[in-house]
Amino acid sequence: MRNIYLDHSATTPIHPQVFQKMEPYFKEKFGNPSSIHSYGQAVKAAVEEAREQVALALDTNPSRVLFTSGGTEADFLAIVGTALANQAKGKHIIISEIEHAAVLEATKWLEQFGFEVTMLPVDNYGMVDIHNVEKSIRKDTILVSIMYVNNEIGTIQPIEEIGFLLKNKGILFHTDAVQAFPILDISLNKLPVDLLTISSHKINGPKGIGALYIKDGVKIHPFIGGTQERTRRGGTENVPGIVGFGEAAKILMETKQKKREHITLYRVKMIEIWKDYIGQDLFVINGHPSKVVPSILNVSFLGIKTDTMLMKLDMKGIAVSGGSACASKIIDVSRVIKSLHLPDEVAKSSIRISFGYQQTIDEISYAANEIANIMNRHSHRM
Ligand SMILES: Cc1ncc(COP(=O)(O)O)c(C=O)c1O
Repeated sequence: MRNIYLDHSATTPIHPQVFQKMEPYFKEKFGNPSSIHSYGQAVKAAVEEAREQVALALDTNPSRVLFTSGGTEADFLAIVGTALANQAKGKHIIISEIEHAAVLEATKWLEQFGFEVTMLPVDNYGMVDIHNVEKSIRKDTILVSIMYVNNEIGTIQPIEEIGFLLKNKGILFHTDAVQAFPILDISLNKLPVDLLTISSHKINGPKGIGALYIKDGVKIHPFIGGTQERTRRGGTENVPGIVGFGEAAKILMETKQKKREHITLYRVKMIEIWKDYIGQDLFVINGHPSKVVPSILNVSFLGIKTDTMLMKLDMKGIAVSGGSACASKIIDVSRVIKSLHLPDEVAKSSIRISFGYQQTIDEISYAANEIANIMNRHSHRM
């Protein structure tokens, strides 16, 4: 049986070059970057080199890159850290209803302390309406957090437009770019955001490491003590993780355009196969038709419920997901899919296919054909 991994939005395999670069930092290069002796200083230099690589991949200055334990912590720090630092100005925050749990839970946490959260709806494509952002702004609004690319449906939000809307209004703008960074070019020298989250394990780097971009002058209330990361995130640095993240960011920067081209082909190929072997009226692509990343393909195969399709594909060695990985143990329709207000039959049969850099066209054809076979054998219109 073949093993085909099509769940790169959940996580990605580590790049061999990344692993190789990390290895010495588990062995002989074990120093603590805060130590003043040579063991510490060698390691500190590696951490700063990685910071430069991550900064370069985001087109920004290394001093604005803060390492965290992943996307979840970066989101929490962006939201809770700025909310606490700016609460004298107001306690109102705006997010969208399809944010990742990391953002949602951070705002829920703040609600205990009197913060108010407006959750913006999305349309059938999962798109936030910029007019709704504008209408929701109050005198006491201090922060807007809208994700760049949704992790379940791939819809790309109008981040630049929202950023320009908020500019000069004294409202901070955070975007969770965990799913955007692996596939879209991001230039923080141009993008009008104050805070941006990325995560290493979505770009063939190690797990447990991420970063928050913080624009100069943005105040953050730290919630983990210590002097590391310029006192904004204490704790001895995850040096192997940081080194691996830096290497993964470097490789990504060199290969992103090619990766995007290949992945776009894979997406088109899959859909072509389904049109030929299933028929256009038996499957529905969810998410925005054009403002979508090629790496995430959310599709409903009418007549086969999500969990049945996942199980049948797993038996064929093909790994895809239904909804986000964190929510995949829950069989119910995902929160994001629900918010699109799709017909019941479409919502209940949605699966997410997400592509990676090392994929081959042969794998794509095999997986697409297996899906077509399953459909032709088992579909019962609900
Ligand atoms: C959009 C989004 N934000 C945040 C996260 C959390 O990142 P991490 O797994 O590094 O904590 C994920 C991971 O699934 C994600 O897809």
